[in-house]
Amino acid sequence: MDNHQKNKEKAPLYDALIQYKNSGKHTYHVPGHKNGQVYSNLTPPTMLQKVMSIDATEITGLDDLHHPETVIEEAQQLAADCFGAEESFFLVAGSTSGNIALLLTVCTEPGDLILVQRNVHKSVIHGLMLAGAHAVFLAPEIDSVSGLATAPSLTTIKAALQAYPNAKGVFLTMPNYYGMGFELSDIARACHDVGVPLLVDEAHGAHYGQHPALPNSALAAGTDGVVQSTHKMLSAMTMGAMVHVQGKLLDRELMKQRLSMIQSSSPSYPLMASLDLARLHLHRHGADAFTAGLAAVNKAKSGIQNNIPRFGLLGPSGADAGYTTQDPFKLVIYDKEMVLSGYELQRRLEDRGCVPEMSDDTFVVLLFSLGSSEEDAMHLLDTLLHISLEEEPRECEQLLKPDQTTLSRVSTWNILQSAVFSCPVSFHLRKIAKEQKEQISIGEASGRIAAEMVIPYPPGIPLLYPGEMIDENMKNHLILLRESGAKIQGNTDSSLDTILVMIEK
Ligand SMILES: Cc1ncc(COP(=O)(O)O)c(C=O)c1O
Repeated sequence: MDNHQKNKEKAPLYDALIQYKNSGKHTYHVPGHKNGQVYSNLTPPTMLQKVMSIDATEITGLDDLHHPETVIEEAQQLAADCFGAEESFFLVAGSTSGNIALLLTVCTEPGDLILVQRNVHKSVIHGLMLAGAHAVFLAPEIDSVSGLATAPSLTTIKAALQAYPNAKGVFLTMPNYYGMGFELSDIARACHDVGVPLLVDEAHGAHYGQHPALPNSALAAGTDGVVQSTHKMLSAMTMGAMVHVQGKLLDRELMKQRLSMIQSSSPSYPLMASLDLARLHLHRHGADAFTAGLAAVNKAKSGIQNNIPRFGLLGPSGADAGYTTQDPFKLVIYDKEMVLSGYELQRRLEDRGCVPEMSDDTFVVLLFSLGSSEEDAMHLLDTLLHISLEEEPRECEQLLKPDQTTLSRVSTWNILQSAVFSCPVSFHLRKIAKEQKEQISIGEASGRIAAEMVIPYPPGIPLLYPGEMIDENMKNHLILLRESGAKIQGNTDSSLDTILVMIEK
């Protein structure tokens, strides 16, 4: 075993943290809880104390995330090696911070223009606001069977690159929340042909490329900057994420500066160590890390297909070029009898102790991972069987019309955009004063300019941002969402009866 190989067997940051904990040193530094000592008299001992015993800070031997020279540097290099990047950076504020940092790295001057997939997580919209960027929004492809949006096609991206030769880059999200996607290599090439970086929010695809049953990763496709929530589909603690870079199109020094601007100067060590451990776990087990989880999700899928015909499974039909890959770990189900909406099915699952990742009008997304077990699959199958056998399912308003060609009408993931790409939209942080806005009924919102964001959560994709015109389609979409019971964030009236709009002059 050479030295490099030997190093991969270590988790340098995690090891240093444990060594520090076991050293029994007295602390004369922050954090104030002093390795959890402050709670030492609590009975029973709090679980948090255990975490606090390794909740260290930038003391000698534990390196500094914003100026890594020892264990954090080594841990990040090992991560880059594992995920196929030239350089990787640990994030302690989720993919949210990675998306913002990428945008602030590429859009350096107010008014810089970037091509952005329209259905993006709110962190991307926030990054555009912070950068004062101009965004040309690209319409995603819609899968004709499910009605769900994926990402803009190569044709759309090429046309937009040609129309906006001053664009600083292209920002996409892949895979989507449902695990749907397609190969990115051609898009990466199209970006590189005109000398701009491709940036991909791969929050839901940190595991991609790590097993033959999984789609290729965005990095393998040639993407320049990739953000992954290591906490979502791999095994880091919540908020643990990474941004990976390769090639010469991104200014890495600038990105480091941006990361230190938007992340705490006291990042959580347990969190960073969990990123190190997540990488070590992949290294130790290789593709085998996924064997049990894949077996579990496959058991659930075959159980549904063979024994619970009431529920359909989402998967590429082969007919639609816009959607060719599906994350096998995302089990996306719907009621084939079209009686239970996704929201209602989620409620029934939760009533019986199965907590899904999210639902929309039609689908429920059940997330399996490398941590899932056969028992999880069996419990789900049992529960679905019970639900399917219930004599009289509670009728919900969200009945789908039988003549519908696609399954979903109002998915919270989809955004209506009539043009293939929009005109440039300018983002900024200017506050909208009270005197400039008014609250009106949603029914009257058509033709008005939104003065607030409307964000169904999950998945956290803003349907509207301040300054965007609300057209008739959008108004109807919002009403349908309200009626279907979607949870809405970002706006003042979460029941969505009313909305803040700009006062007309
Ligand atoms: C597509 C997408 N990007 C980014 C994020 C933000 O990720 P994080 O929660 O790690 O900040 C999410 C969160 O759900 C997401 O769905």
